[in-house]
Amino acid sequence: MHFSTSILLALAASTSTLAAHISRSSIPGNSTGPDANGKYTISGPGIRANFIPYGASISNLFLNDTSGCERDVVGGFDNASYYSVDRQHPHFGGVPGRYANRIKNSSFVIDGETYNILPNENPEPGSPNGVDTLHGGPDGWDWRNWTVVAHTSSSITFSLVDPDGMEGFPGEVVSYVTYTMGNRTWDLRMVAVATTKVTPIIHTGISTASPTTKPAPPSTTPSTSPTAANASPQTPSSSPTGDIQANQPLSLNDFYSTPKQIGANFSNPDLLGNCGANCTGYDTCYLTNRIEPYGWKEVPVARLRSAWSGIQVDVFTDQDAFQVYSCGGQNGSMALKNTQGLHDGTPRTIPQYGCVVMEVEDWIDGINQPEWGRQSKQVFGPGDEPYVLQASYVFSLNATEVGLLGEGSG
Ligand SMILES: *[C@@H]1O[C@H](CO)[C@@H](O)[C@H](O)[C@H]1NC(C)=O
Ligand SMILES: *[C@@H]1O[C@H](CO)[C@@H](O)[C@H](O)[C@H]1NC(C)=O
Ligand SMILES: *[C@@H]1O[C@H](CO)[C@@H](O)[C@H](O)[C@H]1NC(C)=O
Ligand SMILES: *[C@@H]1O[C@H](CO)[C@@H](O)[C@H](O)[C@H]1NC(C)=O
Ligand SMILES: *[C@@H]1O[C@H](CO)[C@@H](O)[C@H](O)[C@H]1NC(C)=O
Ligand SMILES: *[C@@H]1O[C@H](CO)[C@@H](O)[C@H](O)[C@H]1NC(C)=O
Ligand SMILES: *[C@@H]1O[C@H](CO)[C@@H](O)[C@H](O)[C@H]1NC(C)=O
Ligand SMILES: *[C@@H]1O[C@H](CO)[C@@H](O)[C@H](O)[C@H]1NC(C)=O
Ligand SMILES: *[C@@H]1O[C@H](CO)[C@@H](O)[C@H](O)[C@H]1NC(C)=O
Ligand SMILES: *[C@@H]1O[C@H](CO)[C@@H](O)[C@H](O)[C@H]1NC(C)=O
Repeated sequence: MHFSTSILLALAASTSTLAAHISRSSIPGNSTGPDANGKYTISGPGIRANFIPYGASISNLFLNDTSGCERDVVGGFDNASYYSVDRQHPHFGGVPGRYANRIKNSSFVIDGETYNILPNENPEPGSPNGVDTLHGGPDGWDWRNWTVVAHTSSSITFSLVDPDGMEGFPGEVVSYVTYTMGNRTWDLRMVAVATTKVTPIIHTGISTASPTTKPAPPSTTPSTSPTAANASPQTPSSSPTGDIQANQPLSLNDFYSTPKQIGANFSNPDLLGNCGANCTGYDTCYLTNRIEPYGWKEVPVARLRSAWSGIQVDVFTDQDAFQVYSCGGQNGSMALKNTQGLHDGTPRTIPQYGCVVMEVEDWIDGINQPEWGRQSKQVFGPGDEPYVLQASYVFSLNATEVGLLGEGSG
């Protein structure tokens, strides 16, 4: 504990020294530098976004809706500095790491050696910091300021060096993340290389769609037949159980046989506990079950649409899992950004269930389930191919006014 704290302070000190020496003109590209709020802007036709070094996060994503009104559709804060101040840390738009999602029991075995990493979820008597690790731990990659290594008017690249032993993980990992804006399209490219030892790596780009767009249902084309590895309805924690359940047509977690509004039927008692203890809604990991070889750009793994704004997004990815979380953990205290919401007296906060989180990633906690055969996708050493994640969020407008629950919904 003391060891990791001193590494953390050393890293923070060297990061700020480095920042003082990097002028914007030394960043490859034609960077205009961060704006007064510490945010970098990139744009493409019909789309504009802001990114910040903290977690290599997207902080704003602007699109015009069907009535030509500009909407900022992701959760976040008004300025870059506040991300390090806020203690709720809802993982707004960042890149968790080095291992996204949950590692059960905060431990794993590689080559016969057991590694214990820092826990940060599900405290129990005797384990006040928790018994599981979520999104890389208490100082995971989306708690740190990345370095901007390139910036053009349509792209930005961040990098991070995660030292050997940080939070208990073996070996150094060097990562680059590039975001590009195309024609109403946001592309994500993430690579990571383990430079010294064999270590587990999973990335994900977390995007939190904000209530401005009153999110409605994800659905996929019928050509995929997903199964759901539920994020643990069975245990009191929301750590994965390792159970892989068939995603039966029209069952609780099925959005695939027919589109469904995420908020539909929240009174259904079966939804209580579906996303962890006393949590109503979804925190569900879907396996995409595509038969290789497949072109990941050909068929989306999900679609999210808002009948209210008409904004819809198709999610394309080379990853084999897709997680949906319906923000049951929000309690109405998180403020909207000043670029969001209606300035008509409506409360300017994210209500419980007022957002939806989408994560493209590999099978969660695969490091602890060798029988799933995910080693080559999750465990990397210096001699291996690099870890790679690619995704495209393709936006469009869909003026279908009526939501899935009828007039006035979604
Ligand atoms: C929205 O439309 C306005 C007016 O045409 C335009 O100036 C603005 O750039 C558009 N916003 C985006 C994100 O494309
Ligand atoms: C930064 O953003 C936070 C939250 O959005 C806000 O409370 C704070 O006043 C802002 N600070 C500055 C200096 O703008
Ligand atoms: C990240 O950078 C911001 C400046 O944009 C600074 O206010 C903050 O303290 C830094 N956070 C960390 C964890 O280094
Ligand atoms: C959980 O981690 C502890 C501490 O490393 C270890 O002793 C125990 O065997 C682990 N339990 C399981 C079920 O993996
Ligand atoms: C910045 O560079 C990009 C890529 O070379 C180019 O497409 C864009 O026009 C440039 N923008 C400005 C404002 O010079
Ligand atoms: C963007 O894509 C749309 C089709 O989705 C097309 O009609 C439009 O011409 C494209 N715009 C640009 C600038 O490429
Ligand atoms: C809603 O939940 C009830 C059980 O409370 C169930 O009978 C019904 O099929 C559900 N409807 C939908 C659309 O999921
Ligand atoms: C579960 O949530 C309900 C409603 O928010 C609350 O009243 C109750 O105290 C909670 N129960 C536990 C065990 O946390
Ligand atoms: C909401 O959650 C935050 C973070 O856990 C907590 O600080 C705050 O007191 C809670 N507010 C309410 C009204 O429960
Ligand atoms: C628009 O949304 C409706 C309702 O979900 C759907 O049936 C339709 O296929 C969508 N249209 C396009 C072009 O995506």
